[in-house]
Amino acid sequence: MKIFSGIQPTGAKHLGNYSGGFRQYAATQEQGEAFFCVVDLHSITNPHDPQDLRERTLDLAALMFATGLDPERSTVFVQSHVTAHAEAAWLLSAVTSYGQLGRMTQFKDKAEQQEFVSAGLFTYPVLMAGDILLYQTDIVPIGDDQRQHLELSRDVAERFNSRFGETFTVPRGVYPESGARVMDLQQPGNKMSTTGGNPQGTIYLLDPPEVVRKKVKTAVTDSGREIVHDLNEKVGISNLIEIMTVASGESIAEVEKRFQGAGYGQFKSEVADAVVALLEPIQGRYRELREDTAELERMLARGAAKSREAAAPTLEKMYDRMGFTRPKGV
Ligand code: TRP
Repeated sequence: MKIFSGIQPTGAKHLGNYSGGFRQYAATQEQGEAFFCVVDLHSITNPHDPQDLRERTLDLAALMFATGLDPERSTVFVQSHVTAHAEAAWLLSAVTSYGQLGRMTQFKDKAEQQEFVSAGLFTYPVLMAGDILLYQTDIVPIGDDQRQHLELSRDVAERFNSRFGETFTVPRGVYPESGARVMDLQQPGNKMSTTGGNPQGTIYLLDPPEVVRKKVKTAVTDSGREIVHDLNEKVGISNLIEIMTVASGESIAEVEKRFQGAGYGQFKSEVADAVVALLEPIQGRYRELREDTAELERMLARGAAKSREAAAPTLEKMYDRMGFTRPKGV
């Protein structure tokens, strides 16, 4: 089974990204041949700063290895290192409907917020379809906000297959369920988020321990004093319980049982300790890789070589089926 996912090198990554993303990636690499891609080409669809893109690309790559992606088992690479992605996007634009792209809610939302709307923002989902289809992907672990883009990828695959002959596996999205609900500590009605959230309510994966402790300690709680999971009456405490399950690996019931009779103060301090214990080794590995850029670049070069090899046959097929001549010996 082939697994592919892409992550944008934008925004500081937080505990919600860990719970719904990084943690799942590390788990899925056990299930088959996994490709994880830092999608830097996607990041130029919004106005960006070049130096920033460079740093964030390396930051994210280091974080992917630090959270448990194994370069021996999985292929971790940067999208722009494998030129097949840009090529596939152009070829697939011929079988992508202009009308369907215009109906993408993410495009409509972002276009509304910007004065300069780039063509790339509009064609973004075509690039994404190429990412997935180049690897004959069966499964795409992905956030719920990407459902519409994934459906488009499936439509593109089906249209290409029916116009030019069977070429692509039609991929299936896998959306995280349990443990994915990490809410903002200050506004537990909203998801923890880089863009919409409150920085005080967001635990960044690279927050130092004292910052994590302060954020958890000042988290909004609810009236009453029981540590029970109740999404109607106790959103704040329910969120801290879920965070505890992410950090300790326990179930919700186990956390409730362990803290029966404990007060909010004690509970918060143990949640903070558990999050710090989760993050410390990740931060340690991250720092090692970030300080040894040559090693990180070697790991990414290896990922790029493996991806190129995996993507090449599909790209060749695409050119061939669409009627392109190919230079000899390439
Ligand atoms: N659009 C995705 C996001 O913002 C990132 C992405 C790009 C992706 N290409 C992909 C995800 C391919 C899965 C598969 O989250």
